[in-house]
Amino acid sequence: MSELRNFETMFSLEGKTALVTGGSRGLGLHMATAFLRAGASLVIVTARKLEGEQGINQAVDRLNKLPGITGRAVGLAANVGNTEAIGELVAQVKGLVGAKGLNILVCNAGASWGSRFEDAPSLSSVKILDLNVRGIFELVQKSLPLLQSNASLDDPSRVIIISSTAGSNVPHVGANGTIMYSVSKAAANHLGRNLAVELGPHHITSNTISPGFFPSKLAQGLIKNLGGEESLSKDNPLGRLGIAEDIAGVAVFLASMAGRYVNGEDISVDGGARLAAGRLTKL
Ligand SMILES: NC(=O)c1ccc[n+]([C@@H]2O[C@H](COP(=O)([O-])OP(=O)(O)OC[C@H]3O[C@@H](n4cnc5c(N)ncnc54)[C@H](OP(=O)(O)O)[C@@H]3O)[C@@H](O)[C@H]2O)c1
Repeated sequence: MSELRNFETMFSLEGKTALVTGGSRGLGLHMATAFLRAGASLVIVTARKLEGEQGINQAVDRLNKLPGITGRAVGLAANVGNTEAIGELVAQVKGLVGAKGLNILVCNAGASWGSRFEDAPSLSSVKILDLNVRGIFELVQKSLPLLQSNASLDDPSRVIIISSTAGSNVPHVGANGTIMYSVSKAAANHLGRNLAVELGPHHITSNTISPGFFPSKLAQGLIKNLGGEESLSKDNPLGRLGIAEDIAGVAVFLASMAGRYVNGEDISVDGGARLAAGRLTKL
C-alpha cells in the first residue's frame, strides 16, 4: 500500500484565487464555473464587454448563483491584448486578492481569423499576435508578484495558457485558412515551455491546454464552414466535439494539488482528433 497524503482533497481548489481571461462565455466560463465548484474563494473573470447577453455582468451573475459554492465571482472589463489595459487589470486584481495573492492565472482569451492566405489583412495578424501571444507574455509578467506571493515548493501557483491543437498541427489552409492563428498557438505552446523553466524556481508551474473543436462563438463560423458539428463529430476518434466538462476537468487537474508537479506540458483535449489526419495520407 502507498500512503497518498490528502487524497480526498487532491482535486479541491478550496480557498484559491483565480483570474480567468475571456471568462464571460465559452471555455473561459466553463473553467471559471469549475473553479468555483471546486471550492475557489475568488474567481475574477475578465473580457472586453461588460453589458449584454455576452457580457461579463451576466456571466458573474450566473456564477454567483451556482449551487453550493462558498466563493464568489467578480468581473473586470479589460482588453488583455493591450499593454496599458493589462497594467490596469493587474492593479485591480491586486486590490481584490490582497494578501492572498493570485494562485491560478488562466490566459484563455484568444482571437482567430479565417480566410484565404491571400486575403488576410495585416490587422488580423496584429490582433491575433497581440492577444494570443504578446498579451499572455505581458499578463504573466505583470502578474508575477501576485503569483509569487503565496506560492511554495509544496503548493506552487499555476499559469494555464489555453492554446489549441492548431498549435501543433496544420489544421486549415485554403478557403478557411487559419495560418496566423495556428502560428500564434504554436508560439503560445513554446511560451508555456519557456515560462515553465523561467518561473519554476519561483514556485509557479506553467502549462498549456490545447482544445480541439468546442462549439463556441469563436469556433462556430469555422465549424459551420467545415460541414457542421455532426460531420466533424464523425471525423473525431471519440465521435463527438468537446463539451464543458472536458475542458473543466483538465483545468481543475492542472490547478489542483493533483497537477502540481506537471510543468511545461501541453495537454490536448480533442478526443484524439489531431492524430487522425493520417487517414488523409495518400503515401
Ligand atoms: N472553441 C474552440 O473550438 C477552441 C478550440 C481551440 C482553442 N480555443 C481557444 O480557447 C480560447 C477561448 O475560446 P472560446 O472558443 O471559448 O471563444 P469565445 O466563446 O468566443 O470566448 C472568447 C472570450 O474571450 C474574450 N475576449 C476576446 N478578445 C478579448 C480581449 N482582447 N481581451 C479580453 N477578453 C477578450 C471574449 O469576451 P469579449 O468579446 O467581451 O472580449 C470571451 O469572453 C481561445 O484562446 C481559443 O483560441 C478554442
